[in-house]
Amino acid sequence: MQGSAARPLKSRRCGPLRGTIAVPGDKSVSHRALILAALTVGETRISGLLEAHDVLNTADAMRRLGAHLTRHSIGQWSVWGTGVGGWAEPESVLDFGNSGTGSRLVMGAMATTPITAVFTGDESLRARPMARVLDPLCQFGARYTARAGGLMPLTLTGAAQAICIDHKVSVASAQVKSALLLAALGAPGRSRIVQDVLTRDHTEKMLAAFGADVSVEPLGQGEVVHVMGEVELVPCAVEVPRDPSSAAFVIVAALIVPGSELRIPSLLLNPRRSGLIQTLREMGADIVTENERQSGGETIGDLLVRASSLRGIEVPPDRAPSMIDEYPILAVAASFAEGETRLHGLEELRVKESDRLAAIAAGLKANGLTVSETSNSLTLEGRGADGVPGGARVATHRDHRIAMSFLTMGLASKDSVSVDDTSMIATSFPDFEKLMRDLGADLQTVNA
Ligand code: S3P
Repeated sequence: MQGSAARPLKSRRCGPLRGTIAVPGDKSVSHRALILAALTVGETRISGLLEAHDVLNTADAMRRLGAHLTRHSIGQWSVWGTGVGGWAEPESVLDFGNSGTGSRLVMGAMATTPITAVFTGDESLRARPMARVLDPLCQFGARYTARAGGLMPLTLTGAAQAICIDHKVSVASAQVKSALLLAALGAPGRSRIVQDVLTRDHTEKMLAAFGADVSVEPLGQGEVVHVMGEVELVPCAVEVPRDPSSAAFVIVAALIVPGSELRIPSLLLNPRRSGLIQTLREMGADIVTENERQSGGETIGDLLVRASSLRGIEVPPDRAPSMIDEYPILAVAASFAEGETRLHGLEELRVKESDRLAAIAAGLKANGLTVSETSNSLTLEGRGADGVPGGARVATHRDHRIAMSFLTMGLASKDSVSVDDTSMIATSFPDFEKLMRDLGADLQTVNA
């Protein structure tokens, strides 16, 4: 939300959190469902769509590019697309607000259609690197002009005569990979996209569900994805599973608030998104998976989480892609652990909604933790279940995950923790405050 008034909030030590919490639909899957539906001809039904600002901005972009969208009820949407290569030139600027995923995936999806669009976003998005997506899209024949450093606002013109590509992605980014896979749909022939590491694979899975000719083979520590271009996509029903990156705050809250016991049903348990659960279990967390099942090509299941004594650990760099959005809340969990935690491979955190590595380190220090930070790692000394001082007002830099993480810290620290703004939490988890209060969290409004 651009220019909205700051809304600070304070959290305080509280009694046990108990109950069942329905976290919202997965953000990554929601963006992809809207974009792929807009690339088919006919009606795609989506249920469980995350109705957060980031996803609603993608929905708006799909409308401006010619798709027809109807919202039947909460999370229940229909999209009538115009097919691969069928998007119309938007008459006005596409504003993606805070969303790197929405903007980068749409750049890819339009890069092989001969239309021109202007992309912009809020202050955070306008500072994030876009050349990592735009430069490889030029190999398909697309062209762009951007502010110095490849920043938004930028203008992208899709290729008039697209050509397929053979490309190795140079950053560990599912957004970049996905943008290229979507662009490949509009280029005749088979594109080959290689990644050295395994990043989230929702695009590949959903492309297959929509009838694309896509195949994936392992290659070293990574993999190669082939996509055939100029293949018609066919509408399919998409059921969006619940978001593990939103559940992360609730899971850690249950672990650190003594006596807590929470159930989180129907959560996306894709192994490429489950690094936090694996790490927390290694730290001694009592997290039980029940009723594991398949839904729409994804593994989902119910989690039962109980308050636990945690111990510090070393988290290797190759774990990062499977929990890239979860480091702020992992750092909070590690604050309540016994002993040191060392987190490696964090360079991508520097270019998220904020410089998250700096924001985490500053927030921990302000709340009494001993922390050291390098360009791509963080080490912190845990203070044990009852020993986190708290007491600070944390600068969120308008980053939703920093805000939710430090509010979670305050539920178990000695003194309360406040954050300077919560208005941007609506980009990913609009009901965070209400759902946490329903479970027993003590959250209090404070003056700006
Ligand atoms: C996302 C990929 C990740 C993640 C983002 C969502 C996606 O970004 O941080 O919140 O949906 O593909 P990168 O792939 O750029 O690391």
